[in-house]
Order: sequence, then structure tokens, then C-alpha cells
Amino acid sequence: MNTFEQSLSVWARESFRAAFPGVDLSKINIGVVPTADEMHGEYQCNAAMAIGRLVKKSPRDVALAIARGPALPDGVDRLEVAGPGFINFFLRSEALARRLEAIQDDERLGVPAVGSGRTVVIDYSSPNVAKPMHIGHIRSTVIGNALDRLHRFLGFRVVADNHLGDWGTQFGILLLGWKRGLDEGALKADPIAELERIYKATNAVCDADPAQRELARQELVKLQQGDPENLRIWEKMQHLSQDQFDEVYRRLGVRFDVTLGESFYNPRLAGVVESLLAAGVARETLGAIGVFTDGKLPDKDDPFRISRNGEWTDNPCLVRKSDGGFNYATTDLATLAYRMETWSPETILYVTDGRQQLHFRQIFAAFRRWLPEARVQLEHIWFGTILGADGKPFKTRSGDTVKLRELLDEAEERAYALVTEKSPEVDEGVRREIARAVGLGAIKYADLMSNRQNDYVFSWDKMLSFDGNTAPYLQYACARIASVQDKYAERFSGKDPRACPVTISDPLERALAVRLVRFPDVVIRAAEACKPNMLADYLYDIAQVYSTFYQNIPFLKADEGVRESRVRLCDVTAKTLRCGLNLLGIETPARI
Ligand code: ARG
Repeated sequence: MNTFEQSLSVWARESFRAAFPGVDLSKINIGVVPTADEMHGEYQCNAAMAIGRLVKKSPRDVALAIARGPALPDGVDRLEVAGPGFINFFLRSEALARRLEAIQDDERLGVPAVGSGRTVVIDYSSPNVAKPMHIGHIRSTVIGNALDRLHRFLGFRVVADNHLGDWGTQFGILLLGWKRGLDEGALKADPIAELERIYKATNAVCDADPAQRELARQELVKLQQGDPENLRIWEKMQHLSQDQFDEVYRRLGVRFDVTLGESFYNPRLAGVVESLLAAGVARETLGAIGVFTDGKLPDKDDPFRISRNGEWTDNPCLVRKSDGGFNYATTDLATLAYRMETWSPETILYVTDGRQQLHFRQIFAAFRRWLPEARVQLEHIWFGTILGADGKPFKTRSGDTVKLRELLDEAEERAYALVTEKSPEVDEGVRREIARAVGLGAIKYADLMSNRQNDYVFSWDKMLSFDGNTAPYLQYACARIASVQDKYAERFSGKDPRACPVTISDPLERALAVRLVRFPDVVIRAAEACKPNMLADYLYDIAQVYSTFYQNIPFLKADEGVRESRVRLCDVTAKTLRCGLNLLGIETPARI
């Protein structure tokens, strides 16, 4: 089932081709887009301006050439040419009604499997072993998981890969600390807190005394050479950390297809460096090995060049340190090659914060030079920082980083207080369950609702409000629709609204209908741009329009037939909201 947007785009493309035979229109975006204002119909095509420039005609004439054509596209009542040459499409109410009926019968709500046959690897969450997962990891986990769900729903084969930071310098320090001053009791009680404590204490000692840092380095070298004792301790740290991660993922409803941490690639790193050297991509510099510019890009676009004090100089990406150790970049190149060999993906998405932009620009550029044959789209899906009320990165009152587990606990507690205030009569167990969905939903939604590249201010009051663009508002909207449906079922028991056709007569019905039929286009667009906020905005709009619709036109008191049609619209609205929220990883309790 093509959406209106898709079929009108096809129609516009074909009509322009027929009207301008022999003209190469391949570079022009002829697709239609939803209009911002229903005064101008439901969709519009803006291609006439660009085509006018190409064929040296006024855009209005270009637009008229197809708008006056003999046949209207399917489902369209009329076309209008507005302003300099916008073509506006007005849908027939009948066509909208038939489409809504089809959507109601389709468990995918009309969303086509556009990704089928294609593979996307999504590298997300990727926390570091032996450290608590902190608030920074929530963004990668929540955004990554929404992208995972969106792509899966569109039929892509998704490989969700948790690229744990489980190797590297911090383990030298941890091993030294473990051997010197591990508190077994504390480790039992709260393993991550104890690991964090020994890390911090030992790191402070190393900062003060270079000889100690050298000892930590030797522990690391022993680990890398496979020393059995160090390996055993390291594995222990892995398990303790993995338990913590698993708990958080279970609570957030996140699952990975593979968890291949940095250590997995360790045996490949030497080979990667050899291969980079042989390919002429990397070279030696002061005992280390790095990838330098190939001089093909202007300095300002070259990730291997940097401006210091107004002078452009080299900014190599190091792949082997002078002591023989490997870098974060080496692991990422090995990982990339492994992913290509293992899954041959069309696309790899890396979901991390914006501070890693240069790193990924370098990795992607180095990879293209290293394996120029590889056909893969590489994208760094970066995001901004979560800020506190003071506009600085969000911290606890004592200035520590906020731990993810504590944050989730607090969300559930706060939501519980709200739910209890709203419905004190409900069983405690049920209230807890609703509070869990509302609290976790609120945190996720607050993270997904704005453009990911912006920083946002963390505010409990805002995210937990039942008004405005929040998860509780949307979850509550779903629950309210369910209660309308229940009332209908109670009063007209035994009647199936689907026996009556959908009819669209009131402008408020129409406003809701034109939005509901756009769901598939929004899902596709959000996945393509990797911007879950596009879906969030859409859902919020639907909920608002539904609310106006519900408050202003009679439902159960409407005439038979009209009543059934409206109940059907409610059903499609509820399904759209539920499906959309589910794609964002947000649950919708039946009652709130
Ligand atoms: N462990 C890293 C961190 O916490 C993120 C890893 C991202 N993925 C990657 N392939 N580099 O910052």
C-alpha cells in the first residue's frame, strides 16, 4: 500500500517528465511534502521553481503544465497552483476514509517494509566496563534503541552491537588498585561502586607519582600479554559490570544482538596497523604510527589537519603509540573491517555524543583510504549534552555524575507519587506498574523529543507533566481513547463499528484523518534522518488534534453510523499513538 505522499510523488514525477520530454529532471527533487496549513490542501509539490530555471519558463507556467493535465492523481479532488508555482493537492474525503479503513485492518498501519533485504549495524550504548553507567550513556542507549526499533519495523535486518569499552589503560590502574586495596565486602555489596572507588584512589596515586603510573602500565602490559592472574581479575570485572548493564537494559527494554567489546578486537590490532602501513595509509611519526592527510581536501574539510594559532598543521590519527600500545582509533578500524566481513551492512550508525565527531571523521576517512572497495554508508549519529538547571552539564548536588540506575529509580518514585495523586483508589501493585511505564517513558521521551544535536535541560517537572509534549501526556491520551472505546462497547454491546464505513464530513474529523494517513511517511523520514524527534513531534500533534476533535464533536451521542465511524477514527488514533510510542521504546499502560 503506497502512501498518498508516495503515490502523489510518483504522479508528479511522471507528469513532469511527460510535460517536458527530453529534459533531464533527474537532479530535481520532485517529491511532494505535507503542507503546513490545510488551506493549501494536504500535500504540495515545489519542483516547478527548479524546473522553471532549467527550462527557462516561469514556474507558474511549469506548474500549470501539469496541474491542467487531463487526469488527476488517484484520491485527489483538485489541484491548485498557488503563489509563484506551488502545486497544492486536495484529497477527496472518500479517499481518506478508504485509506483509514485499510490502515485499521493492517497491523503495520500501512508502513511498508522499505528496508527489507538491507542490513544496518547500529553501534549504541557502549558503556565502559568497571565504571557506573552514567547519564551520558542514557542518550546513546535511548536514541540508539529508538533507531534500532524504527529500522527493524521498516524491515531492515538490524545488528544492534554494544561496543563495550572493556580494554585499555584504565585496566592497568584497576588491576593495580584491585591487587593493593580491594575491599571484598564492599565488592559484594556494590561491585561497581567498589571498582569505581579503587579506580579513583589508584588514579590519584598515579597522578601524584609517575613511578606508580609505570606500575599500572606494567599491569596493563601483563594483561595484554595474557598473564593468567590479570586475565582472571579482568574477567571478574567484566562479569560484575555486565550484570549491572543487563539490569539497566532490562529496565529500559533494550536488547542487543551482539556485545562485542573493544577486547574482542585486540588480536586483530597488530594486523590492522601492518595493513594500514602496507596500503600507505599510515606512516611512522616520532616512534608512533599515525594516519596523516592525503592532501586531497582543503584544510578546513580535512580531518587530519587542524588550525592552531591561525596556522594549519597536521592532526594525525594515531593507530600505534610509541610504546607499542594501540589506540581507540585502531580498535574502531578493526571493528569496521570485522563488521564488513561479518554482516556486509549497507549502513553502520554510531550513536555517541558530539565530542567524538572528529574521531569518527578520521575513522571514516582512514577507512575509505584503507579499503576503498568497501560499499557502506558510515554515519556518526551524534547528540548534545544533558544540562542541569544551571545550564552546565547535569550533575548531582554534590557535583558527581548522575548514575543511571539512581536516575531510573527516582523517575519511578516521582511517577508513583503522581499516579497515586491521580488515582489513589487503584491497587498499589497496579499503581507501581503504571508508575514504572510513566517514569521510564518520561525520561526516554525527554531525550527523544528534541533534535538530538541540541543540548537540553533536564527537568523532572517538565518531563513528568501531564500537559505539553511529554510521555505522560501521550500515554494519558492513549488511556483516554481506550476508555471511550470501552464506553462504546458497554453501551452498544455486540455491535462491531467496522460494520459501518468510515465517513469524513466534519473539518475536525478531516484534520485528524489527514494526519493519521501520514504515519508511514513519518516513520520512514525519522529513520532516514535518524531523528526520532520527527516521530515524537508527529505523535504530539496527533494527540493534540485528537483532543480538539474529541472535545468538540459528539461521539456516543452522534447518529448511528457517524458514531461508528468516529469510534473507528479513535481506534486508528490509539493504534498510531501506541505503535509510534513503542517505536520510541515507550510503553502505553491501558489505564493511567
Ligand atoms: N565506550 C565509548 C564511550 O563511552 C563509546 C564507544 C562508541 N563506539 C565506538 N565504536 N567507538 O565513550
